[in-house]
Amino acid sequence: MLFSRDLFTNERLLAAGAIASALYLLALSVYRLYFSPIAKFPGPKLAALTFWYEFYYDVIKRGRYTWKIKELHEKYGPIVRINPYELHIDDPEYYDTLYSGPSKKRNKWEWSAKMFGNTKSMLGTVPHDHHRLRRAAVSPYFSKQSVARLEPTIQSVIDILCERIRGFQRSEEPLNLGHAFAALTTDIITEYAYAKTYGFLAKPDFGCEWPAVLAQASEMSHLMKQFGWLYPTMDAMPEWLVLKFNPPLMHLINFQRDTGDQIKSIMEGKNNEYKTASHTTIFHELLNSDILGPEEKTIRRLAEEGQTVVGAGILTTAHMLKLTSFHILANIEVLKKLKAELASVQPNAAIPIPLRKLEQLPYLTGIVNEGLRMSYGASSRLARISPDAPLTFHSWSIPAGTPVSMTSVLIHDNPTIFPSPSTFSPERWLPGNSEKRLDKYLVSFSKGTRACMGMNLAYAEMYMTLATVFSRFDMELWRTTREDVDIVHDFFNPSPKLDSEGVRVLVK
Ligand code: HEM
Repeated sequence: MLFSRDLFTNERLLAAGAIASALYLLALSVYRLYFSPIAKFPGPKLAALTFWYEFYYDVIKRGRYTWKIKELHEKYGPIVRINPYELHIDDPEYYDTLYSGPSKKRNKWEWSAKMFGNTKSMLGTVPHDHHRLRRAAVSPYFSKQSVARLEPTIQSVIDILCERIRGFQRSEEPLNLGHAFAALTTDIITEYAYAKTYGFLAKPDFGCEWPAVLAQASEMSHLMKQFGWLYPTMDAMPEWLVLKFNPPLMHLINFQRDTGDQIKSIMEGKNNEYKTASHTTIFHELLNSDILGPEEKTIRRLAEEGQTVVGAGILTTAHMLKLTSFHILANIEVLKKLKAELASVQPNAAIPIPLRKLEQLPYLTGIVNEGLRMSYGASSRLARISPDAPLTFHSWSIPAGTPVSMTSVLIHDNPTIFPSPSTFSPERWLPGNSEKRLDKYLVSFSKGTRACMGMNLAYAEMYMTLATVFSRFDMELWRTTREDVDIVHDFFNPSPKLDSEGVRVLVK
């Protein structure tokens, strides 16, 4: 009797719970469709109702929402509601307004800012003013002058790369350029950050599991946006359990823990390499920064900052170098013109051409710009919020506080700005070859207060690596086609088809 009464009570409770949930969902749906501040904006009803729409394209279909968004723009026009809270704009002319300079406040959106599990880093900081403080402490190390001082260090790491390439020349084995460039960019930034490189260029396989780890972490970003509790929960769990449920996330956690260890060893005076380093080291300087208070210098926070500073420039720069090298080698005329231009300023390839001279070479500059255009930078939409003033887009007024995003892939592939967008054409960047100022539409680094902080370092790496490698070596593609570089998935970083074996070359 007692048993059956309990059951009855439980059933009633369950039913009441189910009815309450259904009513809540109904009320939420009605609100999202008809009363939300962005209810008037066009877009599919399902996207307005639920995040599962985005989840399907980005998580289940693995980084495909970008192309669905493109289709939505074709159907609904230049502004589209892509989930319950976010609007997406496809109009290259609007980029400078959305990604504006310091005179306008731009917050990040909490929902997407947690995508790498580092909400205490400048990259994951939501409020405009807090971000300005955190960025001000690090940005001096990435100014043009600081990077110019780092030039000898960058060149010495590129010279190690050249030594390795020579090894492949002797052995006649194919060289995987993606692995080699990821080792290069990792060794440069870890040397600069801690005065202690990860030493991947010295490893026989270039530490090739590393870019794969970063790529997995970058794909995880779609899931982490959807499930904000995932990272802190997994971080608190024993390692064996995380490895069982979500191995890629363990890589991300380990990366952050390793950064924490590096910073701890600097704090405890155990890292002595910086005393003999020929350059300033970012984290030694940060720990002594007057801009940051003690609450900003905890190991946890600096580990997250380290994850951003070290992680942000590895795959992005390596992918650009890999893709650009592919296109140079696949276009004999481009290769000839590049080699001729480099030889015209430095007939002896063993002597590096100074960066300031490289930056003045028009054809090399065309190659760098075109490589940046076709590698897209961050291929995901980047959300910004104007917290205190509405935004005006055409005849629309976008309420203050609304996340609004744009995507580099849609701008760089826009045929009215870049005719024949899938053709690699350095010529389009040559002075006088376009009626438009094309650099205005090159948004690989994003723009405004939240734009890439490592842009000057990235440019130095790109100019110096391409110039050194292509003036010193003759290479040809080996079992590599365009499918190994063309974007198919947006994992925040662009990814080609998933079974690609990378860009491989034979060194002549
Ligand atoms: C071709 C190479 C690179 C590209 C295309 C690129 C692109 C970008 C983009 C699009 C963002 C904005 C992300 C967002 O809005 O969420 C960004 C942010 C950032 N990048 Fe880069 N990046 C490159 C190389 C580097 C390098 C070499 C470093 C330095 C080590 C670096 C450090 C950063 C940092 C610290 C941020 C966060 C800035 C902030 O939130 O204020 N990047 N990058």
